[in-house]
Amino acid sequence: MKMSLFLVLLITLLSATATLPLEALNVRGHRLKSKTFLSPPISLRPGSVSNKVYYDISFPRGHLALKSFNAEVVDEHGVPIPLHETYLHHWVAGPYFKAKDAAAAAAQNLPDFILIRNSGVCKTTLGQYYGLGSETRHTATWVPDPYGIEVGNPEAPPKGYEEKWVFNIHAIDTRGVTDKLGCTECRCNLYNVTIDEDGQRISKDYTGGAGCCYDETRNVFLRYKVMWLDWSDAVLPVKIYIFDASDRALLEGKSEPACKIEYQVEECSSGNQAKNDCVHVQVAKQILPRGGDIVFGVGHQHSGGIAASLHGEDGRLLCESVASYGEGQEAGNEAGYIVGMSTCYPKPGTVTVRDGEVLTVVSNYSSERQHTGVMGLFYILVAEHEQ
Ligand SMILES: *[C@@H]1O[C@H](CO)[C@@H](O)[C@H](O)[C@H]1NC(C)=O
Ligand SMILES: *[C@@H]1O[C@H](CO)[C@@H](O)[C@H](O)[C@H]1NC(C)=O
Repeated sequence: MKMSLFLVLLITLLSATATLPLEALNVRGHRLKSKTFLSPPISLRPGSVSNKVYYDISFPRGHLALKSFNAEVVDEHGVPIPLHETYLHHWVAGPYFKAKDAAAAAAQNLPDFILIRNSGVCKTTLGQYYGLGSETRHTATWVPDPYGIEVGNPEAPPKGYEEKWVFNIHAIDTRGVTDKLGCTECRCNLYNVTIDEDGQRISKDYTGGAGCCYDETRNVFLRYKVMWLDWSDAVLPVKIYIFDASDRALLEGKSEPACKIEYQVEECSSGNQAKNDCVHVQVAKQILPRGGDIVFGVGHQHSGGIAASLHGEDGRLLCESVASYGEGQEAGNEAGYIVGMSTCYPKPGTVTVRDGEVLTVVSNYSSERQHTGVMGLFYILVAEHEQ
């Protein structure tokens, strides 16, 4: 009786597996799962900025190996919004431990939440697991097999806490003008307004003005797709490290990292230099705490960025990530914006780094004109060697 029930179950399972699309199975036969979520609505009007933190976002639950995390900004109808309408300055996501009973935690002088940071190298900033900006549509986040980013380990939270995920999304609405008070030249067609703030129809020959850009004209969302495997012994864990080209501490003889995150690119002096030779090179040295195999690498830069690279202590190239720019109007191909950063997938064992190795991060920008608040980050995944 028991045996036949087992067989029925087995047959049911097998036939369910047989109907799965081939790409849902990864090489080791573990099922790759994927789900798409929407962030809470981000209310924007032309010229406005939203830089908010969203706690307890929708995220897959359980003990998982994360394989990818892709995102893009969409409107209420799910239509992708181009960067020249809503500029995605950055989004970062990561896990944290939340007290199950906030009052009880407070009574014991315990924090309500504890941020779970990546493995390094900045002390108080850049602790995220994932983070990208305008390049998000064309930048791979795939963690190659057999590796995965381990999350949701039930043993990980301290007693009385549970794991959740948090987002910080910084978006800038660049439709029309930026004069919030006057809003004199807002173009109605840019933000699809046909009814004014008081519910009156806007006349056909009214092409722009205050009537079209009242507060919170539209809601946008960050739509994100997460892919994962259930955690198992077949998955090898990787550690996340983020390097920051603005950190001058080690070069200035200080031991503590000082990640400034942003830096400034001055316009090149108009001497005998040809304009297209104007390249600003930002260099930093930072210490990798634990070595292993680099299995993935990618840079992060803003408009004006050319490429970033990461080097070992002896100068060898570990990974180079090149910015690509759009050429058109449509979402994912916006002229003048970085729409993707190239990535590195070294064959495991071919690019190794050691414990405590001093790495050099280089970030190149065009200095044909000045750029303020730029970034030069380098994100790597390291698989430690078995002890
Ligand atoms: C503009 O609004 C209309 C009506 O709400 C909607 O059907 C249409 O899809 C919107 N267009 C864009 C580009 O958002
Ligand atoms: C950055 O620019 C310098 C100087 O032009 C060049 O030697 C180096 O290869 C560039 N690095 C990258 C990653 O483009």
